[in-house]
Amino acid sequence: MTSRESLIYEKSFPVEAGFDFAGRVSGEVKAILTGMGLPKETIRRVAIVTYEAEMNICSYADQGTITLRVKPNFVIIEAADEGQGIEDIGLAMKEGYSTATDKIRSMGFGAGMGLSNMKKFSDTFRIISEVGKGTHLKMLLRIRKDQDSKEP
Ligand SMILES: Nc1ncnc2c1ncn2[C@@H]1O[C@H](COP(=O)(O)OP(=O)(O)OP(=O)(O)O)[C@@H](O)[C@H]1O
Ligand SMILES: [Mg+2]
Repeated sequence: MTSRESLIYEKSFPVEAGFDFAGRVSGEVKAILTGMGLPKETIRRVAIVTYEAEMNICSYADQGTITLRVKPNFVIIEAADEGQGIEDIGLAMKEGYSTATDKIRSMGFGAGMGLSNMKKFSDTFRIISEVGKGTHLKMLLRIRKDQDSKEP
């Protein structure tokens, strides 16, 4: 599922567990893509999947890295973390399934929609996880130049 297109831009961001800096990476990714002039509809989808991946690292992992890559027709988001991993990926992908603690829920997370939304908003979605080691997500989002929206 790798695109052979040439790389236009690449940057990796560390993600810490906990909520002190939660949302910083997805905000930065959004700003970079806006600065590159990508279509708003594409930026919105990338921002959603990056935010969900970031929040899952903050909630369920010890630390992680999110990598943004831009190619002529694709944005690629990779999220790799070290942490507890996911035992049953099929179950974790189900809408509404969540192991969020009360603390995570009190912050507004834990609807069990993050992974299913990442799959929904990306064109290609891959997840690999090993219990006790960590989780690796790779998402490809096609840059839809024809479907730009006038909305902010
Ligand atoms: N990076 C991860 N490491 C370990 N477990 C994870 C990770 N990401 C998701 N999970 C597990 O998969 C479940 C479902 O994740 P998902 O993002 O769909 O929902 P959620 O985080 O529980 O709630 P929401 O994303 O709607 O706030 C989580 O509750 C958690 O058990
Ligand atoms: Mg989540």
